Amino acid sequence: MVAALRSHFNGKTKISGNFGSLSGIAAVFSACLLSALPAYAVEIASPDGRIVVDVDTRNGIPGYSITFNDKPVLNFSRLGLQFQKAPDFVEGFDIASVETKTTDLVWTQPWGEEKDIRDHHKEARIVFQSQTGPARQMTVTFRVFDDGVGFRYDIPAQAGVDAIKITDELTEFTFHDNLKAWWIPAYKDNRYEYQYAASSIDSLDVIHTPATFEGDKIAISIHEAALTDYASMTLRRPMMHGQTLKADLVPWADGIKVYANASFKTPWRTIQIADTAYELANSRMILNLNEPNALGDVSWVKPGKYVGIWWCAHIRTCTWETGEKHGATTENTMRYMDFAAKYGFDGVLVEGWNIGWDGNWYENGDLFRFTEPTPDFDIEKIAAHGRKVGVPLIGHHETSANIVNYEKQLDAAFAFSEKHGMRAVKTGYVGSRLNDTEWHHGQYMVQHFQNVVETAARHHIAIDAHEPIKDTGLRRTYPNMMTREGARGGEYDAWSHAAQGNHPDHATILPYTRMLSGPMDYTAGIVDLRFGEQEENGVSSTVAKQLALMVVIYSPLQMAADLPENYEGHPGFQFIRDVPADWEESIALDGRIGAYFVMARKDRNSPDWYLGAVSDEQARTITVPLDFLDNATTYRAEIYADGEGAHWLDNPQPLAVKTKTVTAEDSLNLELAQGGGQAIRFTPLAAR
Ligand code: NOJ
Ligand code: CA
Repeated sequence: MVAALRSHFNGKTKISGNFGSLSGIAAVFSACLLSALPAYAVEIASPDGRIVVDVDTRNGIPGYSITFNDKPVLNFSRLGLQFQKAPDFVEGFDIASVETKTTDLVWTQPWGEEKDIRDHHKEARIVFQSQTGPARQMTVTFRVFDDGVGFRYDIPAQAGVDAIKITDELTEFTFHDNLKAWWIPAYKDNRYEYQYAASSIDSLDVIHTPATFEGDKIAISIHEAALTDYASMTLRRPMMHGQTLKADLVPWADGIKVYANASFKTPWRTIQIADTAYELANSRMILNLNEPNALGDVSWVKPGKYVGIWWCAHIRTCTWETGEKHGATTENTMRYMDFAAKYGFDGVLVEGWNIGWDGNWYENGDLFRFTEPTPDFDIEKIAAHGRKVGVPLIGHHETSANIVNYEKQLDAAFAFSEKHGMRAVKTGYVGSRLNDTEWHHGQYMVQHFQNVVETAARHHIAIDAHEPIKDTGLRRTYPNMMTREGARGGEYDAWSHAAQGNHPDHATILPYTRMLSGPMDYTAGIVDLRFGEQEENGVSSTVAKQLALMVVIYSPLQMAADLPENYEGHPGFQFIRDVPADWEESIALDGRIGAYFVMARKDRNSPDWYLGAVSDEQARTITVPLDFLDNATTYRAEIYADGEGAHWLDNPQPLAVKTKTVTAEDSLNLELAQGGGQAIRFTPLAAR
């Protein structure tokens, strides 16, 4: 077996061997933890050997560094935690022991972007022991995969410490090179709903994760996995100096970052690494770092596509509030259900169905009632109609960020949803602070989120969260935590002139940034791209790009967001009807951040493949080899391309639908308009 981990004492003695023999050595040292030990360092290589992590102490400060293909990626980067009124983990440490293991297994997702996922990594559980100051022990577990590195603090109870208040996490990411970062700002009132910016690391202030970094033959994404009871991590450049980004935990209103038990584990800090940025989209590391399914039988969690009384409210042809234009009426909801049944959609979202929307709902979250429909929404009649036509309602809980009001009603709200046949509820937290005091991303919200997911699970309800906690892969553990917003979604295209909506490059940045964290309820599929009283508002996209987004942006609850009357008779509607929301396999094929992206996915329930390609404001031709298709099969490609003269701003509607016979040996030249895209369905014709 190749030596995957080496250890040396004071940098002089190097012991090579497999994990088994090293564990033996580690055990010898852990037996005498509190004696003065010679310092030693630990090296962990990925299974393919390309990523190497070194863990060490320098002047008693714990830290780690990373190389990729023998080139430095992160220089020595500090590890540590600071506490209020308890001995902290800052300095005076040596490595006392190491336990190692290798994992190589395949697990299956109940639904997902990929059915079977391989988890292949090397793990080292490293115990740092204080040599000076009060006795303290800090364990950091590293897992090194071919697609990146994860590490987490695993703090055992310390003598005399009952509970911990974390005042700072000292984790650093000290970049060797001043890479180009793709980022959105943290600590802003619109949460994650910003357009991405690109700039060198040495210009950053404080940013959200996932943040993506590009260099020469390398792309890196920093994020976190398994955030269940801790604060979200943002990244700050301390003193606005140098190329170090430091963990900046989103605090409670009282300034404490995290309230923890005496013994606690942090989320995993994740560093995904690939040769090119588009390959980051093929990494499943975040999911691999989450715990297996904790809910048992989740056959009640159903992926699917939905329509809803939603876009009309955003383009103001209907209203959330009651009155003449109220969208959520009994009759209108039944009309949407009939439409959904006729065309094979799996649910109907209804917003504005409950008490609380009348007046200024932004400011009056305490008025929302989650078990009380408005008088013109006959829930019994609607639920009965849904049962009859086989299309359930998707519930909606807009909280206006009033968590106190929502939590009081939480269990009753999900019991109500379950009783009326709903399988999913969309939640929302519009507002810049929770209960007017807490940030959306602190531990308070993380705990609330967990409470919602677990309460919903008890009632067999799946969650689609807007204004959410960022995705850290919890869908593996809680498969009812299906999808979320957590970025600027399609709604921004409803509110203004197309030139002011989501910039055409937005969809060519999301796959390399936000989408690395998990599914997104983007709400694409708009086919009537200009609307409003003077036809002045509009979506900054072509129709083909809207179709392509349904492949590019993965969501197990995928909304076809346009109005039924715009879909019927539209040539692009067939693609929206065909495209699945559950996949056997997904392969990012090509792309460049901020320019274009190409994704292929295989349907989980048929031999069909789908492809989506999106471009920024440039027109481009992308040559795509079809070698992902089955070799032994001839396919019919149904191609939904930008039509003659299509342009995201000046001429968004032209769509050209054509078919072609192809095999895995062919390549297709995809011609994308400015701000355009292309969507393709591949259906087997015959064996070759
Ligand atoms: C913001 C959400 O993102 C959107 O989808 C929803 O319609 C509104 N809030 C109202 O709840
Ligand atoms: Ca939103």
